[in-house]
Amino acid sequence: MSNPSLLILPGDGIGPEVMAEVRKIISWFGDKRGLEFDVSEDLVGGAAYDAHGTPLTDETMEKAQEVDAVLLGAVGGPKYDNLDFSVKPERGLLRLRKEMDLYSNLRPAQCFDALADFSSLKKDIVAGLDIMIIRELTSGIYFGEPRGIIKEGNERVGINTQRYTESEIARVARSAFELARKRGNKVCSMEKANVMESGILWRDVVQEVHDAEYPDVELSHMYADAGAMQLVRAPKQFDVIVTDNLFGDLLSDAAAMLTGSLGMLPSASLGAPMANGRPKALYEPVHGSAPDIAGQAKANPCACILSFAMALRYSFDQGEEATRLEKAVEAVLADGVRTADLMQADGVDPATTSQMGDAVIAKLDASL
Ligand code: NAD
Ligand code: IPM
Ligand code: MN
Repeated sequence: MSNPSLLILPGDGIGPEVMAEVRKIISWFGDKRGLEFDVSEDLVGGAAYDAHGTPLTDETMEKAQEVDAVLLGAVGGPKYDNLDFSVKPERGLLRLRKEMDLYSNLRPAQCFDALADFSSLKKDIVAGLDIMIIRELTSGIYFGEPRGIIKEGNERVGINTQRYTESEIARVARSAFELARKRGNKVCSMEKANVMESGILWRDVVQEVHDAEYPDVELSHMYADAGAMQLVRAPKQFDVIVTDNLFGDLLSDAAAMLTGSLGMLPSASLGAPMANGRPKALYEPVHGSAPDIAGQAKANPCACILSFAMALRYSFDQGEEATRLEKAVEAVLADGVRTADLMQADGVDPATTSQMGDAVIAKLDASL
């Protein structure tokens, strides 16, 4: 049988820097665990725009559709801020998500013990935190029509449309209930049914799917604004949170800070199963291209490394190896080896991106 295939899209800013560390980890699993991947690499975002005048070529899109999993670094940056909307780096990422139909975006927020002191919240609020935000990723206000900037009389009007079909809500709800069954068996669904019709439909459909197919899972509903408040007041009350595209974007950045740094948070974007049974999948850190620190060897590669751990778990059925990698990251942090975004012990210099990657490799070696 041929090796599973991986397409690596490093992208822009710190994307290539953190991805270089992931490549070391991928090689380690090939050399030491016999887990070989056929790896190819291509351009996305501003890097693709610079080379081809588009943030994602049709050829790259086709490759992404064919491989077993895509790993993406980050896209965007000030250099591209004034480009026409249709060729902005972010459009490349959105096209991947939409055309691969990656409707279920898993964004775990786990607080490693070693970082509990570093959260902007009190230690006892976040210590031991382990929640999973499931963000709908292919619909809602990100994609709804009509959209655009139009002229009305003498004024410009900006338009975006929140739109959800029943089936779009039902499939992401199923994904949340399935995952909850493997965790704490609790789902909290967040919308704004008090002010949005799409929120009313969201709440109804989630409840219907629950009652018909997952009555054993504990389900609650919360308005998303109250949910944001609860997420910082008492985040450990949650197990799985399921929410729409825009609310999920905001809530997952907020949740990231509970864990200490945006540089720690991985994600998996999953679609329907392919012919080989694996889900269509793209793995990426939650953070962006971090232009303020790009090119300075300061980026924390953990979010990207942990995204590869998610690939091992969700695409390649290698849960034990995923745990090995997660434990290696945890052990590095516990040793006090940390990039500059994380708290340093007095008198200890921050680790560079590649020192952090090497430290993870050393812990992987030690795990054998
Ligand atoms: P950002 O996530 O790039 O950065 C926010 C802050 O977090 C910055 O101070 C940055 O230095 C820090 N940070 C982020 N990742 C880090 C890491 N791994 N290690 C250490 N520090 C880290 O968000 P932004 O500044 O709002 O956006 C910058 C660009 O990235 C924009 O063009 C935006 O559209 C894009 N973006 C892309 C993605 C993606 O590719 N998935 C996600 C978010 C933002
Ligand atoms: C994210 C980012 C993206 C989003 C951008 C870069 C398109 O913020 O992945 O969270 O808004 O979804
Ligand atoms: Mn975001």
